Amino acid sequence: MEPVNPPNGPSADIGLIGLAVMGQNLVLNMNDHGYQVVVYNRTSARTTEFLNGPARDTNVIGVETIDQLVAALKPPRRIMLMVKAGRPVDETIRLLTPLLDEGDIIIDGGNSYFEDTIRRTEELVRKGLRFIGSGISGGEEGARYGPSIMPGGEVSAWPHVKNILRSIAAKVADGTPCCDWVGSDGAGHYTKMVHNGIEYGDMQVIAEAYHLMRVGAGLSYKEMESVFSEWGNGLLDSYLIEITTDIFAHTSADGTPTLEKILDAAGQKGTGKWTVISSLQLGYPMTLVAEAVYARVVSALHDQRAEASGVLASGVARSGTISGLNKGDFIQAVHDALYASKIVSYAQGFMLLQAAAEEYQWDLDYGRIAQLWREGCIIRAAFLDDITAAFARRPDLPSLLLDEFFVEAIRNALPGWRTTVVAAVESGIPVPAYSSALAFYDAYRSGRLPANLIQAQRDYFGAHTYERIDRPRGEFFHTDWTGTGGPATSGSYSA
Ligand code: 6PG
Repeated sequence: MEPVNPPNGPSADIGLIGLAVMGQNLVLNMNDHGYQVVVYNRTSARTTEFLNGPARDTNVIGVETIDQLVAALKPPRRIMLMVKAGRPVDETIRLLTPLLDEGDIIIDGGNSYFEDTIRRTEELVRKGLRFIGSGISGGEEGARYGPSIMPGGEVSAWPHVKNILRSIAAKVADGTPCCDWVGSDGAGHYTKMVHNGIEYGDMQVIAEAYHLMRVGAGLSYKEMESVFSEWGNGLLDSYLIEITTDIFAHTSADGTPTLEKILDAAGQKGTGKWTVISSLQLGYPMTLVAEAVYARVVSALHDQRAEASGVLASGVARSGTISGLNKGDFIQAVHDALYASKIVSYAQGFMLLQAAAEEYQWDLDYGRIAQLWREGCIIRAAFLDDITAAFARRPDLPSLLLDEFFVEAIRNALPGWRTTVVAAVESGIPVPAYSSALAFYDAYRSGRLPANLIQAQRDYFGAHTYERIDRPRGEFFHTDWTGTGGPATSGSYSA
């Protein structure tokens, strides 16, 4: 079969460029919802395979050139790019731009860096075109049957894509789609980036529970499956807990757990790292996600770890095993550590979104963002309803940790959380996410931290000046600590 089902004039509702698995599934999802989609892929063999395979007996049109794609679309043209983030997106836009008319819309549905989206929105608006940078989460399955969609960019494009995007999106229990306009230029891709950072954190807090239960308490895969299955019906009800339960249950042909055969070196495509970089730039703590990114990095130092495991002492009596705790109590403690750490991670994620909204002048609706993540995406979880409720109680909530529900949730989880971190440290099992979340929590609730000493040291060696507790903020002082310094001071600016 030829890749071209010649379109009958401009009849298609939307075009899609990039027929990798996410692109194909989004096309089939749109087709299911009654939209005619015209598709183009750089290698037309893939278009042919798609038309002969998954798209057989659909209304999907396949074309061999970008010109044919543009010609097949009704005005204003809507073209979704599902190509690799970075240069391929710019290159595709470069090819498309001269073929489009004023008001036509390009939607980038990949995991693009938000600053690229800010730039592309401006560049295309200058050319009379409209650009949307949309986060799409949910993997293959989500794309096919209902992803979470986070569009941002040129707002005048929204009414033209709203119906299509909302129809293909996942829906929450009352039918509301997990798709809404997030904000101008890079707001959609930024929100997706934070979603992915939180995804890294969620995966790490789960991985730490697995490590503690398997290595620390010696639970079998069957036992872990049953613990996770129970957790998935409670406070931790979420997609990632659900798939972890399935993973524990999965066995290879030889009857052993499939998980045991997987190399413990984690990969990453960069969105977690971007989240942490942005948090450093904005001066907001994303400590748990940072630890999750670094945990993947450390895991990838596989050969070094193999060597170190032979020479580095643990300093614990019974290396790697948790002693002195009854199994049931220990499992409950780990549950509480996971839950409390997850709360800290989301609190940090929403603090970062708030900081970004201020920096980039986005009018973000935090309760609504939590609902966009409620279904369809990788971090979907019952817990997101509690976040929406918290922002409904107080829209300008500075941190979820200050909301009454989470104050109480953490109060209840704290004993188990501390017990878990202590037991892990005593047993030599790394729990970077649980312990960094606890360190953040303890710092955040401290009325006084030792930063006075940091300020004194900075002033001592570099005359960087300090503020005083008995004087208004913004007044800076310098002490001649050695009696030999002059009166000159360094600037008091903060990066
Ligand atoms: C999603 C996911 C997805 C992400 C993968 C891989 O929301 O559907 O976040 O966008 O690309 O999960 O991420 P890493 O390779 O960085 O783990």
